[in-house]
Amino acid sequence: MHLHFLGLLLAAVGLLCLVRTSEGIDIQGDFVQDINGVIQVIFGVNPPQSSPDQSNPRTGKKTVVNLVFAHHIVGNTYNYDMNAWSDGKYSDFRHSGKVIRLVNKVAMDSDIKLASSKGIDAFALNVGRDAWEPDQIANAYTAAENLNTTFKLFLSFDMTSLPCENVQDADLLRQYITTYAQHPNQLLYNGGVFVSTFAGENCLFGSSNVNQGWLNTLKTDLPSVYFVPSFFVDPRTFPTYTVMDGIFNTYMASVSPWFFTHYGIDTYNKNFIYRGDDWLFAQRWEILINHRRVVPFAEVVTWNDYGESSYVGPIKGVQPMSESWVNGFDHQGWLDLMQYYISAFKTGRYPLITKDRIFIWARLYPRNVDAPNDHVGRPDHWEWTQDTLWAIVLLTSPANVTLNCGPSTQTSSLPSGLSKLSLNLSETCDVSSSITRDSVSADGSIGGPEVTTFSPPGFRYTTSAPSYNFNAFVVASSA
Ligand SMILES: *[C@@H]1O[C@H](CO)[C@@H](O)[C@H](O)[C@H]1NC(C)=O
Ligand SMILES: *[C@@H]1O[C@H](CO)[C@@H](O)[C@H](O)[C@H]1NC(C)=O
Ligand SMILES: *[C@@H]1O[C@H](CO)[C@@H](O)[C@H](O)[C@H]1NC(C)=O
Repeated sequence: MHLHFLGLLLAAVGLLCLVRTSEGIDIQGDFVQDINGVIQVIFGVNPPQSSPDQSNPRTGKKTVVNLVFAHHIVGNTYNYDMNAWSDGKYSDFRHSGKVIRLVNKVAMDSDIKLASSKGIDAFALNVGRDAWEPDQIANAYTAAENLNTTFKLFLSFDMTSLPCENVQDADLLRQYITTYAQHPNQLLYNGGVFVSTFAGENCLFGSSNVNQGWLNTLKTDLPSVYFVPSFFVDPRTFPTYTVMDGIFNTYMASVSPWFFTHYGIDTYNKNFIYRGDDWLFAQRWEILINHRRVVPFAEVVTWNDYGESSYVGPIKGVQPMSESWVNGFDHQGWLDLMQYYISAFKTGRYPLITKDRIFIWARLYPRNVDAPNDHVGRPDHWEWTQDTLWAIVLLTSPANVTLNCGPSTQTSSLPSGLSKLSLNLSETCDVSSSITRDSVSADGSIGGPEVTTFSPPGFRYTTSAPSYNFNAFVVASSA
């Protein structure tokens, strides 16, 4: 199984900014917190070659078409049903003449339905070198088609996994593109087949330079390709990559909620966190919404990367040995909250709140807790995070909202709409919350308070820990 280092750039989510150059050209930039905690400014220097705006012929006004994708790690879908994703009849998977019995069959169509119901327009199918992945990609496209959905798919080649040194290494990528170019659920943009990558900045495909190698692979004797890779290079060199139509993380902005990976030297040897405090992904969405006219695409990173704790979809794939920090840590509350932001990103308007909701997340153990039985050890950068509970409330009308955990308690008088709250955690405690409003009777007189409590089961912060688990425990009150 290959590694996914998605977090390296993508989870280090920063603040998008716009800068006007002396020539009067607007360029988009990203303040990215790097591995040392240093804030850097990264600029995408290729302005979008095609404007996402479409002129409305009647008004002459430009409408922005924003699309939201989610990064789907196909490498974690070995147990997904292969042949009958969309009719619910699961069967064993055939590969190279062998029938592989699926132990834990899962239908992928539910991923498509779920993502689509939250406003996500497409999955970026992160595909690596495993021999079974082409079949799984085929099943994803078939499932989307059978669902008769407008949901789209596109390939995101994982170049940390796929070989790309020799000219024949291009064959697999080209074959993928020709296979799906005409598929009704293939994402097309600007008339081209949308294609992305994870890495690929060192790929030569037998050529003498990377740009030419990619041009030969994607832009020669193929249906038109719209290429938005995630090359990890000095952004000042972006203009030399003429093969690119856009840049992943500026033109196509990533939104990532969390990052924690915990592999010892005996496995993948990566054990660190990135800082996700201060409602990171919510702040990220707000910035993207404010700049939605110049950021046509947002990509949620990730749908299912369990190993790096960045998933917002259900935990149902085959985990890359991440069970000890993933099981019991469902993140779909974040997906629900993202739906609110996705709607604003796509329409320019925050949706009307028709029901109070509260979303709460935190690590379950202090950052400096000792877990002597965990041989992997405390993750690097543990000191970047605070022992704090983060909450977001969506209110239909003003209310008093209380967060409580043991000795820590805080009540805030909040307006209608979205508010962000936090609570420091110090002692072992169970998390609870409540929304309180004075009741108003028919004659207008103010009565006693009406209280709605939300005490999510299992949300217990403890000052002793079985292991160094820095994953987030996420809950949401009912929709
Ligand atoms: C597929 O969806 C389209 C558009 O919603 C609809 O007109 C059509 O009848 C659907 N076809 C089937 C077979 O469900
Ligand atoms: C919460 O913890 C942070 C970090 O330790 C600290 O700066 C802040 O003052 C604390 N807030 C309260 C209300 O105690
Ligand atoms: C919040 O609590 C304060 C103090 O008890 C009260 O005056 C106020 O009316 C409450 N707000 C709402 C919206 O119920």
